[in-house]
Amino acid sequence: MKKNSIYYPSLILFALAVASCKTQAPSTTSSSKIEQSQGVYQYRDEDPTVKPFFSDRQGVIGRNGMVASAHPEASQVGLAILQAGGNAVDAAVAIQFALAVVYPGAGNIGGGGFMVYRDNAGKAYTLDYREKAPGKASQNMYLDSLGNVRQGLSISGHLASGVPGSVDGMAEAHKRFGKLPWSQVIQPAVDLAEKGFALTERDALGLNRIKPDLNTINPGKTYFLKSTVPTDTVTWHKGDVFVQADLAKTLQRIQGQGRAGFYEGETARLIAEEMQRGKGLITEEDLKNYHSAWRDPIQAKYKNYNVITMPPTSSGGVALVQLMRFTEPYPLRKWGWNRDSTVQVMIEAERRVYADRAKFLGDPDFVKVPVDKLMSPDYLSTRWTDFSFAKASDSKTVKGGMIPGYESLETTHFSIVDKEGSAVSITTTLNGGYGSRVVIGGAGFFMNNEMDDFSVKPGVPNMFGLIGNQANAIAPNKRMLSSMTPTILEKDGKLFMVVGTPGGSTIITSVYQTILNVIEHGMTMQQAVNALKFHHQWLPDKTTFENGAFSDATVQALQSRGYILEKLTNTLGRMDCVLIRPDGSYEGASDPRADNTARGY
Ligand code: GLY
Repeated sequence: MKKNSIYYPSLILFALAVASCKTQAPSTTSSSKIEQSQGVYQYRDEDPTVKPFFSDRQGVIGRNGMVASAHPEASQVGLAILQAGGNAVDAAVAIQFALAVVYPGAGNIGGGGFMVYRDNAGKAYTLDYREKAPGKASQNMYLDSLGNVRQGLSISGHLASGVPGSVDGMAEAHKRFGKLPWSQVIQPAVDLAEKGFALTERDALGLNRIKPDLNTINPGKTYFLKSTVPTDTVTWHKGDVFVQADLAKTLQRIQGQGRAGFYEGETARLIAEEMQRGKGLITEEDLKNYHSAWRDPIQAKYKNYNVITMPPTSSGGVALVQLMRFTEPYPLRKWGWNRDSTVQVMIEAERRVYADRAKFLGDPDFVKVPVDKLMSPDYLSTRWTDFSFAKASDSKTVKGGMIPGYESLETTHFSIVDKEGSAVSITTTLNGGYGSRVVIGGAGFFMNNEMDDFSVKPGVPNMFGLIGNQANAIAPNKRMLSSMTPTILEKDGKLFMVVGTPGGSTIITSVYQTILNVIEHGMTMQQAVNALKFHHQWLPDKTTFENGAFSDATVQALQSRGYILEKLTNTLGRMDCVLIRPDGSYEGASDPRADNTARGY
């Protein structure tokens, strides 16, 4: 299999080019140090005003297997599959279906996702099970006769959905790499749907929050409402047992018939009927024709690490490698975590990378995406010539680069390492929380609103503020561009890290920071997840940051150079990661910002 790889020595040329730019860092003084004791990395920063962590949660340590996912029930399912002799792919399939039951806001069978898999011999694979536009979709389907965007149509209701890919993706992954029987890995999800599970506080709040939409879009017909009376104040509470009988039957059809249990027969009929009822576009033909795609992984060197990540249809892998390449020549470790110069280099890298994303990235089955060129040190050095530590660049003048001859927040991620050292990194989504909020009548699950990830009109931002172009225009059967960045790192040729997060456009920058937190700043995996984060995406031209991510000194230094900073009232990232520690044990790290849970043995 051909790899999307970069010739490493050319990095040296890029480093020299960077060194000849205006690279004198103005004021960063102190340093963070990395110490390693008894197999644990240790973060040290000498600035007492910096409190880098969202919480002091500790990682989970295991030697035989580790899973980290967005929900305690799903992580428990994954652990049980590993303990029953399943491999990382078996556990991944079980978790994907379990999340569809216990985490309906983002876990799904009505959405899609991406899988990065590295087997225990070090061979890497990526599976694209992203949704596709229905066959009847068209470029201007969300525009009115004057060419204006008809607000909301790509976000909520039946027209917002792409053809789901998750069930086909899991069937493909299991057919190729699974060890336990298909029926066995689906059973935990069937049980959770049939017998119910106790809602967490967050689960209950989520369902209560969407009650008005559920009443409008699915009047009177869904068990996601505790009471179907629209004005009723009956709400879900922590500990309520939530049973999903229709979903249990859908899962049993998938359990018995594999992909045909979803894309054909009863389930396909129910989806098509629901679409007709709500004037959506998906037909039984679209469902039957859906197939996920194995793609060549992106593999790129960063120092003594090998980054294995997702190629287009996700922009995540290309963007992550570009970010790391821009950063590599600079002494971040010496400058310190989130010090002004460290942050400045990272923001300027993000600005340029997201401009490229808007210009070049789209479905590789429809448009030519210059993946290797975008990640090449020669190209990146041309993008860096106008960088200066003295002053912020201006996003109005930073456009996507020139290449000759060229034209959820509510998602969820899980990471798994099994006993043999095979690893899976999956990010999967309905796009927005609870997707389009359409529940398939009689089949009991939410459909995605992934059509909003297309560029519905050039220059008009999507729900994440991302701007797109012709490369990501809507076309029948085309996949919409994603930011999902499931990634695996090797260190010195051995498995090192499994990483990923939800977060829409912020996925890429959260993954980038989490990786750097470990390999540059010496944090443990859990510390890197706990660490406060920031984000810049070219447009709008501002840097958002979690409260506490920057010291006062960093804020002042950045503002004096023209950076617009905005402190967030919410948080960034819901990371679920695994690190292989120097002593060979696994550290599972789950994000303390939500219900995320790591389980190992
Ligand atoms: N729906 C979010 C993403 O794919 O980036």
